[in-house]
Amino acid sequence: MTSALTSKDLSFQHTDTFSIKQLSVKFEKGKVISIIGPNGSGKSTLLHLLTTLLPHKEGYIYIDGKEIHHMKQKQIARMLTMLPQTQDHQLDLTVRDLVKHGRFPHRKWHERLNNEDVKKVDWAISVTNMTHLQHRLLQTLSGGERQRAWIAMALSQSTKVLLLDEPTTYLDISHQLEVMELVQFLNKKYQMTIIMVLHDINQAGKV
Ligand SMILES: Nc1ncnc2c1ncn2[C@@H]1O[C@H](COP(=O)(O)OP(=O)(O)OP(=O)(O)O)[C@@H](O)[C@H]1O
Ligand SMILES: [Mg+2]
Repeated sequence: MTSALTSKDLSFQHTDTFSIKQLSVKFEKGKVISIIGPNGSGKSTLLHLLTTLLPHKEGYIYIDGKEIHHMKQKQIARMLTMLPQTQDHQLDLTVRDLVKHGRFPHRKWHERLNNEDVKKVDWAISVTNMTHLQHRLLQTLSGGERQRAWIAMALSQSTKVLLLDEPTTYLDISHQLEVMELVQFLNKKYQMTIIMVLHDINQAGKV
């Protein structure tokens, strides 16, 4: 079986002081994978490379067996979504408008959302328990609610692979658990492959 996401001999250098050298890693389909490591060890850099937010010059990345250099950006965005570590921009949007952004890879430039898009947006909002908050501005939400809104945006992109960079940072214990339960639910019910960077080794052991 092909893996969801693979790197082969991937090398990358930010500066003289940080580099990734010939990293080969396989993320199997249908699994929840946690990545843990100290601050500055390169976890976010790895996710950025895997999703082409950072271009790599050496080595290969395969999504579902296809080499990423042979894929268009939109095609990649239909296969994987990443929620970055910080998302503190665009706070003057409502939750629903944010979630609609997830549908852009499925539409042509400036094309209106169709029925299927609206259904996906509704699904993403409801599965993250945001229905009652969907018309609120992001800036009026609590940290945990805002995090759920961003997860909803990622989900509406409707990809089989979801990468989450520290999705529980700033959340209290009960909201951390809520995010972990959502991750498990998405994995079990929709067979999503979820690759997430976590801060806390205890959390990583629970999923
Ligand atoms: N754009 C950049 N330019 C130069 N150096 C960078 C850049 N982004 C990250 N780095 C450096 O690369 C190293 C890895 O950073 P990265 O953000 O991947 O770490 P991390 O494991 O995600 O850390 P954290 O747990 O703090 O989120 C760090 O030393 C960081 O300073
Ligand atoms: Mg990081």
